[in-house]
Amino acid sequence: MKYIIFILVIITGSMLLISCNSNREKEIGSTGSAEVSEAKLDSLINLMTLDEKLDLIHASSSFTSGGISRLDIPELVFSDGPHGVRHEHGRGWYALEDADDRSTYLPVGISLASTWNKDIGYDYGEVLGNEAKERGKDVLLGPGINIIRSPLNGRNFEYLSEDPYLTGVMGTGYVRGLQDQGVGSMPKHYTANNQETDRHNIDAQISRRALHEIYFPAFEMVVRDGGAWSIMGAYNKVNGQYTTHHEYLNNVILKGEWEFDGAVVSDWASVKDTREALLYGTDIEMGTELLRDFDNPEYDEFYLANPAKEMIESGEVDESYVDEKVRRVLRLMYRTTAMTDHGQGQRNVDAHQQLALEVAREGIVLLKNDGLLPLDREEIQTVAVIGHNATRKFAERGGSSQVPALYEITPLEGIQNLVGDDVEVIYAEGYEPYYDESLFRGDGGDAASQSRENERDVELARTANEDLMQEAVALAEEADAVIFVGGWIHGHEGMPWGQGTYDAEARDKLNLKLIFGQEDVIRQINSVNDHTAVVLMGGSNVEMENWLPDTPAYLQAWYPGMEGGTAIAEILFGEVNPSGKLPMTFANSHEDYPSHSIGEFPGDGTVDYAEDIYVGYRYFDTQDRDVIYPFGFGLSYTTFEFSDLQVERDDDKVLVQSTVTNTGEREGAEVVQVYVHHKDPSVERPVRELKGFEKVTLEPGASATVNIELDESAFMYYHPEDLKWVLESGSYEVQVGNSSRDIKLQDEVVW
Ligand code: BGC
Repeated sequence: MKYIIFILVIITGSMLLISCNSNREKEIGSTGSAEVSEAKLDSLINLMTLDEKLDLIHASSSFTSGGISRLDIPELVFSDGPHGVRHEHGRGWYALEDADDRSTYLPVGISLASTWNKDIGYDYGEVLGNEAKERGKDVLLGPGINIIRSPLNGRNFEYLSEDPYLTGVMGTGYVRGLQDQGVGSMPKHYTANNQETDRHNIDAQISRRALHEIYFPAFEMVVRDGGAWSIMGAYNKVNGQYTTHHEYLNNVILKGEWEFDGAVVSDWASVKDTREALLYGTDIEMGTELLRDFDNPEYDEFYLANPAKEMIESGEVDESYVDEKVRRVLRLMYRTTAMTDHGQGQRNVDAHQQLALEVAREGIVLLKNDGLLPLDREEIQTVAVIGHNATRKFAERGGSSQVPALYEITPLEGIQNLVGDDVEVIYAEGYEPYYDESLFRGDGGDAASQSRENERDVELARTANEDLMQEAVALAEEADAVIFVGGWIHGHEGMPWGQGTYDAEARDKLNLKLIFGQEDVIRQINSVNDHTAVVLMGGSNVEMENWLPDTPAYLQAWYPGMEGGTAIAEILFGEVNPSGKLPMTFANSHEDYPSHSIGEFPGDGTVDYAEDIYVGYRYFDTQDRDVIYPFGFGLSYTTFEFSDLQVERDDDKVLVQSTVTNTGEREGAEVVQVYVHHKDPSVERPVRELKGFEKVTLEPGASATVNIELDESAFMYYHPEDLKWVLESGSYEVQVGNSSRDIKLQDEVVW
């Protein structure tokens, strides 16, 4: 098993608080899964006709598959999505009106990763599993664990990180928490679904080494360490073959090397070929282009329905391929709530909302603070809150991950709730979303491709509304402090989710320039009030060079979920000490990223991953390129010191021990990050790769000794020609720090 990390935290000093969620566990409980014997599966399969078997391996409605009433086998019920249980769709494609489906809306995937808190990964999955169970779902379509290759990918908000190890660890916690509720996880989209432009057909050209070192590890971890019961294939091709029925990805690696015994489910409409789907590992086919006539679905015409039957009856493909799929589907069903009663589950309970708040508190990242924060409500009489995003709601936006949130506290509400009568809060919108219908013209193709054709129109969406801006500036002038809340958006009023959005499915961003004239607004505010904190939402960074230098404080809030406004206010006013760390590098422009400067994005028909393994900080640090904020970076209101690094090899393990001390005046949390580097490799390797981390919470003056054990896989690389993992002898640096650019201590170990 790769990347087995054992952690031991020893308490020294006054007190060490490690996130522990025993109260929530008590409230939610764990149900576990029901494993079934292979003999039982055999006997069931023996009872089935070919038609019945085929029924089990394709969709029966928009979010169900299978069902054989003669044998008392129910349908398998799926639901999106990664950060909350999606609307009820009934059997069709449109959300039902008046359904009882209000749910907990957790901060999005990139927020979860920014917590760097492994316990929270588990809790996050547990809450989702509990709510999915209450809604009668057997499998939840998450987590989204594609690597953030380019900051322009419209779905980065759903994904976790540019780093495979961080993605894998947080994703593994999520999978375990979810499945302990008896609800199956479906990590997605396997693999290299790193862009939305032309997502149904793009052919990603990736070396074997990059696949194994960058695009596979998180999937391997959720399968081997997390025990995922299903995996979702992606839309795109990898090296010429569609990933959903890919011989190497599914048969050789996933089901072969990683011994995955669950079901590979297609993305909705990602099966493109019956023979390949039969032979190359697709176990369930969901939603297909045959269903573009949404009101008259012909499920019998699915690739894995009648066309598969013909192929088997003609002898072209052996029926044993279908039996193997049925076995995997039944195994999945026995493990989930589908065949066994796993209890009721709970929805919209306090414990779930509390978790939404905790993730937001730990996932928001403080990136700049020239002494402005935390704001003191005893001193401030008037605060101006400025920006459209201060009042905008995000839960029902962005694509298939939309959530019918029970409620959503906006930043303006969070600030008002927190300061009460102590501070006068005045609000101005400052800028407004701009849309041009021509951006979305045409029915065919992906929205992302359409917007690329309309680049000139998109640029128009960057101009400020002069009246709104002047109103905001006037307000800023009279306030003691300003909180500007802006950034990206999901969707917009009056249009369906797939259209007119920035962080959204089927759409990539064109660049990282702030939209709707926000740069002008921030600059003008800064010129009249030098007590301005900027809070940005979104699934990626924005260009900063024109506004950051004059801005005293900047908080990256991502899309922080239903309690996001509360958490933002608590951090701004110092009720909560920020502890989030960036899960991706923030460079100034998308052109600085290796996917653009070396490789291609979004390509044209094919996309060349020429940057190879040099994704994110692996590139920026190895090439010593300027970044605005490095991977792993995030500020606190207290300070920490790292000391006493000891690195010792014990046979096939390396123990990394170091002490971290809170040297400031308030409680806070720090993430100890362990990177590894071969000093004289025979093939090119990055100057550092994350292989371990631990988050510790410390009272002022307290210290903790953090022990992180790395196994030999943490030192290996994938040999580009021999096509296998290699542990090269030689001397390795073990670097310990609190960002990829702030290595505090380092030592050596020899293999
Ligand atoms: C998305 C998946 C999603 C599925 C079902 C697809 O278009 O890519 O992430 O789970 O639809 O809604």
